[in-house]
Amino acid sequence: MDHQPVTAEGEGGPVPRELSADDLTMIPATPEEVALVAELLDLPASHERPAEVVQDWIAHWEERGWGTWVVRQGDSLAVGFVGLQDRGDFVRLTTRSVVGTSTERMARALRLAMGHALAWLPDLPVRMRVAPEDSATRELLTSAGLVHAPDQDHDVDGETWQVLELPYIRVVDRVPPRAAEAVLDMWVRVNDSGGAVGFRPGTSRGRVSAVLDDYADRMVAGRVVGVSLNSPEGELLGLGFLVPGTGDLQGHTASIERVMTDPDRRGLGYGRLLMAGLHRAARERGIERTVLDQRDGTGVGDFYARFGYEEVGRVPGALRVAEGDDRDRVIMSRAL
Ligand SMILES: CC(C)(COP(=O)(O)OP(=O)(O)OC[C@H]1O[C@@H](n2cnc3c(N)ncnc32)[C@H](O)[C@@H]1OP(=O)(O)O)[C@@H](O)C(=O)NCCC(=O)NCCS
Repeated sequence: MDHQPVTAEGEGGPVPRELSADDLTMIPATPEEVALVAELLDLPASHERPAEVVQDWIAHWEERGWGTWVVRQGDSLAVGFVGLQDRGDFVRLTTRSVVGTSTERMARALRLAMGHALAWLPDLPVRMRVAPEDSATRELLTSAGLVHAPDQDHDVDGETWQVLELPYIRVVDRVPPRAAEAVLDMWVRVNDSGGAVGFRPGTSRGRVSAVLDDYADRMVAGRVVGVSLNSPEGELLGLGFLVPGTGDLQGHTASIERVMTDPDRRGLGYGRLLMAGLHRAARERGIERTVLDQRDGTGVGDFYARFGYEEVGRVPGALRVAEGDDRDRVIMSRAL
């Protein structure tokens, strides 16, 4: 399970500084990393460049509270770095790993960093450039959710660069007609592929549309917040709804509902990015705890557990998925 053990007070609350999941830990760069940087840059440790790089990383952390992490396997072995650098109108992503590090390990580190970026960093595009022939790096970035943004491709000193960009989060209080079409298309496809977002497979578009209309009405009334994940070109990749609690007793909590990503693009990190956006939207509204329901037997509980959710209750047989197939409604929650 991911957890965020060390925090620093930042604007709007504690911002995690370290990230970890399974056997990976990501720690802000320290002066001890000069040897690692020298190795990654293929320079002798005595060369002045590695020390300068590390000094820049440390200064960036001190000024902004985010920056470059050293990726460690377990608590000890450094296997590379993942960096986020403020470039004014965008955030530059950099990454490099020690020869022999598995692509899967660096992909997991990148996914953690990208979720963190959407949850906590300034709302700027996150971009990394790659040489067109560098298919290995492009695949690594794609597996962490980044998408080619052709309008950002450019030449520098005769060298051509392709730019990959992180999808962005949109928080909305209404559903314009065009967006409604895209949401319905995805929702129906998610239902038909067995997704557990309130309907059985084969449910008509009209019935889904009626439920979306109800959400849209409640959005306009300020009782629901829509959160979508969109590609750099604006294509819908995923969505969910945040329903804040009401009244003195429950105003600090919110339910998260109908979390879904495009069924044709699963396993690319979009679910993680969407959850980061939902949590950010909740935190920015002063929410301290989120709650959600999930259908037992779908495996989705393991997905939520990756983001700190724990089962807090279940209603036996509450969901009739098909005649003779009743499933428990499992309630999960986490503090933000
Ligand atoms: C659940 C769902 C949103 C996940 O979306 P996704 O785009 O595949 O998710 P990601 O690629 O970002 O996966 C995030 C992490 O969760 C893990 N994960 C994804 N789906 C999982 C599942 N069903 N069970 C266990 N783990 C899962 C991934 O391995 C990944 O781990 P890592 O990043 O630590 O390596 C998507 O499968 C979906 O829309 N399902 C249908 C709708 C649904 O049932 N929603 C739940 C409503 S309660």
